[in-house]
Amino acid sequence: MTRKIDMLPRVKAFIEREHSHFIGGAWTRSVSGETFATLNPATGRELARVASADAGDVDHAVAAAQRAFPAWAAIVPAARERLLFAFADLVERNQEVLAQLESLDNGKPFATAFNVETNVALGQLRYFAGWPTKLTGETYPVSSPGYHVYSRREPLGVCAAITPWNYSLVMAMQKIGPALASGNTLVLKPAEQTPLTALFLAELAAEAGIPAGVLNVVTGFGKSAGRALVTHSDVAKVGFTGSTEVGREILAGAAGNFKRVSLELGGKSPLIIFPDADLDAAADAAFWGIFANSGQNCVAASRLYVHADAYDRVLEAVVARARTVRVRPGMEEGSELGPIISAEQLGRVQHYIEIGRSEGAELVSGGERLGGDLASGYFLQPTIFRDVDDTARIGSEEVFGPVLSVFRFRSEAEVLERANRTKFGLAAAVWTNDLSRAHRMAAALRSGVVWINTYDWFDPSVPFGGIGQSGQGRELGRQVMEMYTELKSVWVKIGVSGEERV
Ligand code: NAI
Ligand code: MG
Repeated sequence: MTRKIDMLPRVKAFIEREHSHFIGGAWTRSVSGETFATLNPATGRELARVASADAGDVDHAVAAAQRAFPAWAAIVPAARERLLFAFADLVERNQEVLAQLESLDNGKPFATAFNVETNVALGQLRYFAGWPTKLTGETYPVSSPGYHVYSRREPLGVCAAITPWNYSLVMAMQKIGPALASGNTLVLKPAEQTPLTALFLAELAAEAGIPAGVLNVVTGFGKSAGRALVTHSDVAKVGFTGSTEVGREILAGAAGNFKRVSLELGGKSPLIIFPDADLDAAADAAFWGIFANSGQNCVAASRLYVHADAYDRVLEAVVARARTVRVRPGMEEGSELGPIISAEQLGRVQHYIEIGRSEGAELVSGGERLGGDLASGYFLQPTIFRDVDDTARIGSEEVFGPVLSVFRFRSEAEVLERANRTKFGLAAAVWTNDLSRAHRMAAALRSGVVWINTYDWFDPSVPFGGIGQSGQGRELGRQVMEMYTELKSVWVKIGVSGEERV
């Protein structure tokens, strides 16, 4: 028995509206009049049509953000905080609406959209809302007598955010929060697969009293709207989350006016289980580490290394869970995993499954698209390959889907070397009850985050980001506030006490 979750009237009304860009506080059609469809990946059918921005629309949005900048930067910190907290209160009041919109547009289970996505986004917004009154400079103990030197943190100006579809709300908020809290204005371009919640957020921000032009949203494709933002001479910074290939293009495209660039890219994150760990808990973490959000997660634990003494038991537990997990439409009670975002992404993932088979890895679970009443959606079984070769493509390239590669290891030094042999470096995890080994591994693993006896935990106060081809810069925490501000040093000649010239 399956029960559908009823669409809230507000969700239905929003979806049925005309979706234009939100520029300078007003809904604005594309100059070209072009629109594109966003689909519901559970059905493959059109959910809504939204405006498609090109360079001209991006120009308007950047100009609106530029006009709004001086007043927003000058507003006293406590007032900026109040506006951001008012925005957060409206997000909270509309949490169910946002979660349903995200579930419909992205496909993820409503419960996940509500409990994970919107809760995390809200926590981030409130964390950043408190920053305006805490963003301080420093004084410096310079060695020149008679000088007082201090620094000020100042906003950059107009920032651009280019976000992906996998956690649309969280990714948007991770950039809206620090950009606005530090006094910048923003043009946000959500992913073309999931544009709806960003538009809804823009309206809530306006309703909260955030001045026109401070938060603008343009919808459209990467090659047009995205690229126009990246190359725009009046944009001071681009914050991007998405693929490594596009990240590389953005870095090059931003060189024209030396934009600040922060990049959160892909990964092939290892989760390592030693035989002394709590193996049931470790297997559960390994399962959700890869399959949460149907594997469409930048920190997906797509490489599972299990010590030979625990290999069979852990693999059996992970496979058992994969066979019982409920892969169903997101707007259905009890769904644990939703569909893949698009036909294109499904195709990519299926192609990797073919590659895995042809490379000789043993497929022990899944591998097939789901049929029956799910045939028109993009549903895929959780897929597990065992005894994967380290050099196999399936075990070394980012799949970004529900595909796990399992490897066997025998010693700490060996697994460390193998886990680090990757161009990526986003996340890693170690499961062990040996305290010394845990800290040794935490220090030696090459990645931006290491989880010990847990997986996929975040907090707005903890910096997050990758090394190597997983990106540059950090999101969250004090560090992201630094990335959205310039540091200005001020030298004041004050003379030496007792030597004043009167
Ligand atoms: P993508 O990197 O192409 O898209 C992410 C965002 O960048 C979207 O808003 C898109 O419109 C924009 N974009 C695309 N090309 C651009 C360009 N030339 N200039 C400026 N902006 C541009 O990711 P896509 O195509 O959705 O997925 C492809 C692969 O990327 C996935 O298979 C996965 O490996 C990776 N990916 C990683 C994510 C992460 O969280 N690290 C999120 C989404 C995808
Ligand atoms: Mg969609």
